[in-house]
Amino acid sequence: MSELHWRWWQRGVIYQIYPRSYKDSNHDGTGDLQGIIEKLDYLNDGTENSLGVDAIWISPFFPSPMKDAGYDVANYVDVDPLFGDLATFDRLIAAAHERNIKIIIDYVPNHSSDRHPWFIESRSSRTNPKRDWYIWQDARPDGSPPNNWGSVFGGKAWTWDDTTQQYYFHQFDPSQPDLNWRNPAVKAAMLDVLRFWLDRGVDGIRMDVIYMVWKHPDMPDQPLIPGAAGRGPDDLFGRQQHLYDYNYEGIHSIMQEIRTLFDAYPGDRLSIGEIWLDLPERMKYYGNNDELHLPFNFGLISSASFLEETPWSAADVRRIVDEYEAALPAFGWGNWVMGNHDTPRLASRLGSHSKARTAALLLLTLRGTPTIYMGEEIGMVNGDIPPDKIDDPQGLRLGAAYTRDKCRTPFQWDGSDYAGFSTVPTWLPVNPDYPLRNVAGEWLDERSMLTLYRRLLWLRRRSMALSVGSYEPLESPEGTYVYVREYGPETMLIALNFTGEVLLNTLLDRQGMVSGMLELRPQEGVLVRLD
Ligand code: GLC
Repeated sequence: MSELHWRWWQRGVIYQIYPRSYKDSNHDGTGDLQGIIEKLDYLNDGTENSLGVDAIWISPFFPSPMKDAGYDVANYVDVDPLFGDLATFDRLIAAAHERNIKIIIDYVPNHSSDRHPWFIESRSSRTNPKRDWYIWQDARPDGSPPNNWGSVFGGKAWTWDDTTQQYYFHQFDPSQPDLNWRNPAVKAAMLDVLRFWLDRGVDGIRMDVIYMVWKHPDMPDQPLIPGAAGRGPDDLFGRQQHLYDYNYEGIHSIMQEIRTLFDAYPGDRLSIGEIWLDLPERMKYYGNNDELHLPFNFGLISSASFLEETPWSAADVRRIVDEYEAALPAFGWGNWVMGNHDTPRLASRLGSHSKARTAALLLLTLRGTPTIYMGEEIGMVNGDIPPDKIDDPQGLRLGAAYTRDKCRTPFQWDGSDYAGFSTVPTWLPVNPDYPLRNVAGEWLDERSMLTLYRRLLWLRRRSMALSVGSYEPLESPEGTYVYVREYGPETMLIALNFTGEVLLNTLLDRQGMVSGMLELRPQEGVLVRLD
């Protein structure tokens, strides 16, 4: 197969930008699109003097009351003044394309904001033509909600509307009413949103919880999972079997319609879906090569819950990778995600920076498109968010332990005030470790996390074996994971040791993993953690 045969999103690496926290260009404490433009050369200027990513996925920047950090959209086809305007977005696409960087945007089809004009109309009266654009139902005779479904963010998934005396459904926050995709007018309007952005030149679209848009039409009660504690008493969602509220039969024909829409565009437009489902169900979103190009693979994150641990032993990781490889349809292209704006920072989740470094090597050498969440390349850790600063509706409802703000703190560019992200107090506090952990400092440090990412990214860019070659695990000693990537005459071996971690040595120049054989230099002492 020739190099040209591969699509950009098979060879390339995606970098997720959470725009509110990337770079503030207009000194209001919040990141913006112009800020991203200013940092494009950092991401890829065509030389090894830049990070070396191929595409950026930008989380929502649409007009929004920001109840769920932009995932509550009040207008799908505009830019919130906080981030710029459509002209800024056009400049961003042009500037990115000049550097061969692809642009992927976010799309939030399952729900809008309650400030969206569609919902304002819908809730104005029972006879409004937009009434059926959302999901409205009568109370049960005792006044309680129509069924037992719970919201992802905790509590019930229904909110009573006094004016029209019915409940409306929201899989997430009450300020995020679910759109009724069973209404053909809603579907048509939402497909038009995709066209609007594809017409504007975006190279790909990441579709937020796309598997949730199709529910059982009668919305029956869901059975409880025996003994499940969920994320506390308020978590009804976490204690139910999700038979009817998402991934419901019929969803795949919507996926096919979306794919047909993408395929009608010139160029390789990429459709990505956010799919938090188990492996067999997730794989169905490839369809028969007629659904999503990339159903996001969270196998190595395992769960969006802030408290659940990722299994992180050589055997676990190899099993997860091998099961994924085996389940991937022959025509399908895989992908790996290790962090995002909803999950704890890698170094915090795995427990150390040495482990986060191993994870980086894994992410960038597995077969399948990697997505790097901004900040992982400098080893950012979870922020410590004071209770009065919690912004995330999940944290506000389920408690500080679950607040996703921790992984959304401002990006750390340098050691100056506000980490070079802004010049004024920022919307979430900057992590106090910024004087030590920032791009400027790590750029100059040959052994930093940033140097590791940059060198890996460039190695991968130059290597067909690493980017698109075959994957073959090898037998290796317990605690290690070894595999080979091969393409034509090029063969690469990747060897990872998950056991033993040097916490400190007396010469202060070794940190991280050790092999079975530890060579001590004269007068050197080493402190190793073995679990
Ligand atoms: C997705 C987003 C998350 C958001 C939710 C509701 O899971 O990644 O940030 O809160 O959908 O839109």
